Amino acid sequence: MSKELSPEELEELKHKHIRSFSTRKGRISKAQERAIVELFPKYELKYDPSKKIDKEIIFANSNPLVFEIGCGMGETTVAIAEAHPDVNFIGCEIFPSGIGAISLLLEQKNIKNVKIFRHDAVEVVKDMLPDNYLDGVHIFFPDPWRKARHHKRRLVSTPFIDQLAPKLKTGAYLHCATDWENYAEQMMEVLSGCTVLENKYEAFSPEPANPITRRPVTKFNERGNRLGHGCWDLVFLKK
Ligand SMILES: C[S@@+](CC[C@H](N)C(=O)[O-])C[C@H]1O[C@@H](n2cnc3c(N)ncnc32)[C@H](O)[C@@H]1O
Repeated sequence: MSKELSPEELEELKHKHIRSFSTRKGRISKAQERAIVELFPKYELKYDPSKKIDKEIIFANSNPLVFEIGCGMGETTVAIAEAHPDVNFIGCEIFPSGIGAISLLLEQKNIKNVKIFRHDAVEVVKDMLPDNYLDGVHIFFPDPWRKARHHKRRLVSTPFIDQLAPKLKTGAYLHCATDWENYAEQMMEVLSGCTVLENKYEAFSPEPANPITRRPVTKFNERGNRLGHGCWDLVFLKK
């Protein structure tokens, strides 16, 4: 007898790839719910596979463009964008609470250089990013998917990095960070194995900085330190 598919597996069949995020909704506050309706439209980029993004149209300038995958609650995204008003940032996040929280932060701080896709970054990369376009990519503390049977869901994997790397300009950077040692090792293996990328350092990055920004200490960082996990940054450049 054939096994019945779970809702997650059905979604994956529809989207033809394994999702790197959990489809569980999570809790959302009233303020976040309201922010999605009232504020998010101001910052939202809509997924449209028939179009490539054009930063000159989106931001009305030609400043460097950094793409972030998994903004979470947006603290890092907004702190970096505030510190670098001459850089444009496009983020992707799925979780409603994160979308609400980011919208609130962007509004409170009057940030003009951030736009957000509420969509699977894997599809945004594949369908909407032109080749040789990005000045940087941030992947900070992607879900570690700790159990071995879930490792297939990890975002930093060879098939995805092979799709992402061509979107970087020559000399542009990919900055990944994790507090999970086994994922840090996987990241190192995957990025070192990508023929169009080279490590900016001999091994892990000695500091959480890349050619454009510095990653602030986040709650995942703090948790990693507190639990004795440590924290690993990797900065690779496009050849
Ligand atoms: C562990 S959190 C880290 C958030 C943030 N980068 C930080 O350091 O606080 C990972 C986030 O990535 C998001 N995410 C995972 N896969 C994604 C994908 N394919 N597209 C968009 N967001 C994704 C999840 O929803 C989650 O909010």
